[in-house]
Amino acid sequence: MLGDKKVLFSGMQATGNLTLGNYLGALKNWVSLSDEYECFYSVVDLHSITVRQDPAELRRRARALYILYVAAGLDPEKNCIYYQSHVSAHSELAWILNCFTYNGELSRMTQFKDKSAKHADNVNAGLFTYPVLMAADILLYQTDLVPVGKDQMQHLELTRDIAQRFNGIYGDVFTIPEGYIAKTGAKIMSLQDPSKKMSKSDENPNASIYLMDDADTIIRKFKRAVTDSEACVRYNENQPGISNLMEIYSTCTGKSFAEIEKEFDGKGYGDFKMAVGESVVDVLRPIHERIADLEKNKDYIDSMIKANAEKANYVATKTLRKVQKKVGFPERIR
Ligand code: TYM
Repeated sequence: MLGDKKVLFSGMQATGNLTLGNYLGALKNWVSLSDEYECFYSVVDLHSITVRQDPAELRRRARALYILYVAAGLDPEKNCIYYQSHVSAHSELAWILNCFTYNGELSRMTQFKDKSAKHADNVNAGLFTYPVLMAADILLYQTDLVPVGKDQMQHLELTRDIAQRFNGIYGDVFTIPEGYIAKTGAKIMSLQDPSKKMSKSDENPNASIYLMDDADTIIRKFKRAVTDSEACVRYNENQPGISNLMEIYSTCTGKSFAEIEKEFDGKGYGDFKMAVGESVVDVLRPIHERIADLEKNKDYIDSMIKANAEKANYVATKTLRKVQKKVGFPERIR
């Protein structure tokens, strides 16, 4: 709890072009939960350097992501939106938690296995201990709820294990966080191969809708999306392509699968794909407009970055000091 509200924490990497999966699986839910919770939303730039980045490009993308959070509907005067690298407590707590995490646990992480296969020339220690940094992010704010897409649930389980282990030794230091997965949109799949998740790093640009794609590009990508052979709009395991499109349409319009099946009863895939494309354009258009406005307002964004970094530092340092004391580091002399 912080004040009279429960605490929510989540973050996103400023790496690559964000996709519709990031929006529907995460950001959209952050917005709908933001009134109810005391929220911390981080642009997790420390996480980004586990893969080589061009420095100027990383800085540009981090700012674009900050602006996207705001444009998507998170008010930076009510939500603490900040750059992870502006709060050194993340790195400091991560080090301590590294000493309470086992190599065996980390080597079971599927994202580590995937990423180390993909970046075989750079399997660095950061890539391996990345979930510990994620645990530090969450635990620093005494977080109750962590809204994420399905692919992050394994990391969240590990966070809970680390927190319980630490609390078991030192008493109730950390709040044990719960994950939050939305009913629809928690795992948006590739438009070209619905057995794979939609990902910013997919080599085929038609596989992903990028959040900054214009309307024509979005419609074109949906027209090209792979479908199935049953020639009807039904949600089932045998139709992974259509089911994925239904998931997208349902998340964008709020319609249930039954309503969608009824709407497209007797109609072809072509009509359906067009409708899905338009529903996505309708969701993204206002965000694009707000981004254009916010980009003109440099001073406002800068002032929010500064004020929120101060707030995040204040809250995070409080937890860090408690942890440092528990593990036996000497008190600071004032
Ligand atoms: P990242 O940057 O890969 O993804 C950000 C969020 O988007 C969700 N997501 C998806 N949801 C549905 N369908 C998809 N195809 C899809 N692709 C991505 C992710 O589940 C995530 O919620 N390690 C995290 C960032 C992070 C974090 C944290 C998250 C760092 N510290 C603490 C929560 C709490 C990551 O790389 O997410």
